[in-house]
Amino acid sequence: MKEWYDAIQEAQSVERLEEIRISVFGKKGVLAAEFVKMKKAPNEEKATIAKELNTHKANLMSEFTVRKIVLQTQELQKAMQAEAIDVSLFSTSSQAGALHPVMETMDRIVEYFSSMNFAVKTGQIVEDDFNNFEALNLPKYHPARDMQDTFYFKDEMLLRTHTSPVQIRTMMNTKPPIRMIAPGAVFRRDYDLTHTPMFHQIEGLVVDEAGKVSFANLKFILEDFLKYMFGDVKVRFRPSFFPFTEPSAEVDISCVFCEGEGCRVCSKTGWLEVLGCGIVDPNVFEAVKYKDVSGYAFGLGVERFAMLIHHIGDLRSLFEGDIKLLEQFQ
Ligand code: DAH
Repeated sequence: MKEWYDAIQEAQSVERLEEIRISVFGKKGVLAAEFVKMKKAPNEEKATIAKELNTHKANLMSEFTVRKIVLQTQELQKAMQAEAIDVSLFSTSSQAGALHPVMETMDRIVEYFSSMNFAVKTGQIVEDDFNNFEALNLPKYHPARDMQDTFYFKDEMLLRTHTSPVQIRTMMNTKPPIRMIAPGAVFRRDYDLTHTPMFHQIEGLVVDEAGKVSFANLKFILEDFLKYMFGDVKVRFRPSFFPFTEPSAEVDISCVFCEGEGCRVCSKTGWLEVLGCGIVDPNVFEAVKYKDVSGYAFGLGVERFAMLIHHIGDLRSLFEGDIKLLEQFQ
């Protein structure tokens, strides 16, 4: 038996130990053979032999178990050492981060208006009814106030549905003249191919003494801005309606996909609507207690600009965080 104790101690791998286990404890193993031999021994010796064999069996088993744990631990340590990662080594490849296309577009728009001397205002995302609707000449029955569109909290608080309330906040705490833009997130209860519950807008407002701000000023700056953003496009102003401006216009650029030929994106019209604008409605000035002033305002959706600039087809892809999409904008 001694040789098997030695064999267990000398085994250098779990694999070798397993061979020993089969040779000692297996059906055709040493112990089994010894028990068979015992049956042939004289009766008076059987009890002693059996006792001896059982002691060996127990001792060998415990040696075996201990040795197995030792070998397994050694093998695990070796494997861990072989697979260890040296975190202090320099990496051969690195991934540079980049601005999200929406933020990059927002930055470009802000850059343009900053260069034209517009101040940047932020306002707040949780708004009240007065700033988001009432002061903007959005009467109580206006469809934009419908629960369908607005996320409401209690006590007439809500998530702003546009960045126009920043106009009101700015006029409420500054004297004219004003020359500002307000970039930021806005929220509406909408979700489909062209609408997400959160998106970004930029609002613009210019106010000065009565007679000093005209539609011609508005037209000039927006045309110049759109050419800065989209290059050599045609720009047209279409009469429209907004409660906070009178007269109001929607502004189109010639389609950046088909260059005005007519395609799927522009619904065969050759034009893409990109912003809303107008001359500030007297009711708005009344709400903020401004007298003898004139002004213009405009508002645009940043995601729409980003999609047109980068030829992105589905608005929702801007919010999925897909690294493959984002990698294209480094
Ligand atoms: N607030 C409007 C919206 O969310 C956008 C807008 C249109 C703002 C015309 C303006 C404007 O200041 O004059 O749809």
